[in-house]
Amino acid sequence: MRILLGVGGGIAAYKSAELARLLMEQEHTVQAVMTAAAQKFITPLTFAALTGRKTLTDLFAIEAAIEHISVAQEHDLLVVAPATADLIGQLANGLAGDFLTTLYLAFTGPVVLAPAMNVNMWQHPATQANLETLRRRGHRVVDPGSGYLACGMTGPGRLADPETIAAAIAQELRRRTDLEGETVLVTAGPTEEPLDPVRFISNRSSGKMGYALAEAAAARGARVILVSGPVHLAAPRNVELIQVRTALEMRNRVMERLPDAGIVVKAAAVADFHLSKVPDQKVKKTAARVSMELDPTPDILAEIGRKKGDRLLVGFAAETQNLIQEGRRKLESKNCDMLVANLVGGSEVGFESDQNEVVLLLRTGESIPLARAPKREIADRIFDEVLKLRLALHAEHGR
Ligand code: CTP
Repeated sequence: MRILLGVGGGIAAYKSAELARLLMEQEHTVQAVMTAAAQKFITPLTFAALTGRKTLTDLFAIEAAIEHISVAQEHDLLVVAPATADLIGQLANGLAGDFLTTLYLAFTGPVVLAPAMNVNMWQHPATQANLETLRRRGHRVVDPGSGYLACGMTGPGRLADPETIAAAIAQELRRRTDLEGETVLVTAGPTEEPLDPVRFISNRSSGKMGYALAEAAAARGARVILVSGPVHLAAPRNVELIQVRTALEMRNRVMERLPDAGIVVKAAAVADFHLSKVPDQKVKKTAARVSMELDPTPDILAEIGRKKGDRLLVGFAAETQNLIQEGRRKLESKNCDMLVANLVGGSEVGFESDQNEVVLLLRTGESIPLARAPKREIADRIFDEVLKLRLALHAEHGR
C-alpha cells in the first residue's frame, strides 16, 4: 500500500525513522512529509534514504504548487508520527499553513495519529478536545505510552512503539475496503409519535451511534442506507439518508429498502407505543385530566428476524438494569446474530453522549465487552466483530 508518513516536530521524530523502516520492510511504499519543526530534530535526508523517495517539506516550492493534491490522491493512508500538540490543534481546526496540514485537508483516506508530547501538554483540555474532534472524524489515535519523557517528567506522552503504530496502520488499511460489495442498512435516532398536531412522544436518543455506524460502514466501502428518525446531525458522507418521523414510517421505509443479503443494524430507539388515531386538532386543556390509549408499534427488528434469510442482523438494547440478561433475551426473541447491549441512564455514556461503552452479545454465545470509547470507534469495533461473526457463521453452516 502507499502510505504518507507525516512527521511532526518533537523529540520523538527520530522514532518515526524506525516506523518508516518497518513500513518499508512490510512492503509498503512510504512517502515522508516533514513539518519545519520536524526538520530541527531530524533531516529530510534520513527519510529519503530510508524510503527511496524525496521527502516533501515545502508547500511553496515551484513544483509543489499543486503537488499536495496529487500526493493526497495517490496514497492509501496518512499516518502522523509524532503528532505534536500543535499539529493536532492545526489538524483538528483545519488550519493549512504547510505541506503536511494542507495535504491532510486534501486527503480523503484513513488517518492514523500517533501523539507524543509532555505529560501536561497531553493532559491539557485543549489537546484532549482536539483529539476528541479528530476521533469523531473517524481518525485512529494510537495513544502514547507512559514512562520517562525527554522533558524529565514521567507519565503518558511517549510515542507508541513503531510496531504498535504499524499494527494500527494494518488494521486501518483492512478497514478501508473490508465492507466493499456489502449493503448495510442502519436505522438511527428516536421516533416521534404524534398525540395531536403539535405534541408527540419521543425519547432521548440523539442518533449519534447510528450515524457513527453509517459513517464507519461507508468509510469501509459499503453501500449504506441510513433510515433516520428526527435528529440534529449532519448527513454522513456517501450515505443514502432516508428521513422518517414515526415508528410506522420507519418500518415501511426499512421494509421497502431491506437488502436481500447484507447487514442490517437497528440502532434506532423506536417508540414502543403510539396513538393509532391522532386527533386532527390540538387537544385543548378543558378537562382536569386526560387519558389516552396507546397501541403497540410494529417491532421492526422482530419482523426482520422472522424472515431473516441471508441477512446478518444486529440489534441494540438500551437498558437501565439487567443489561446482559435483557440483551440475551432480545437477541433470542428477535432472532438477531448480534446484539449491542447498551447501559443507558447515566450521563457519561449512552444516549446523548459522544462516547459509549457496550457489550456485544453474539449468537454463538460469546460476549465481547467494548471499553468506553468515542461512538465512531465503537462503530468500527462493531463492524470488525460483525465480519468475524459472519465468517464463523459461514463456516458453521458450510455456506
Ligand atoms: N426495535 C424495533 N422496533 C420497535 C422496538 C424496538 O425495531 N418497535 C428494535 C430497536 O431498534 C433495537 C431493539 O429492537 O434494535 C431493542 O429495542 P429496545 O427498545 O431496547 O427493546 P424493546 O423490544 O422495545 O423492549 P423493552 O421495551 O422491553 O426494553
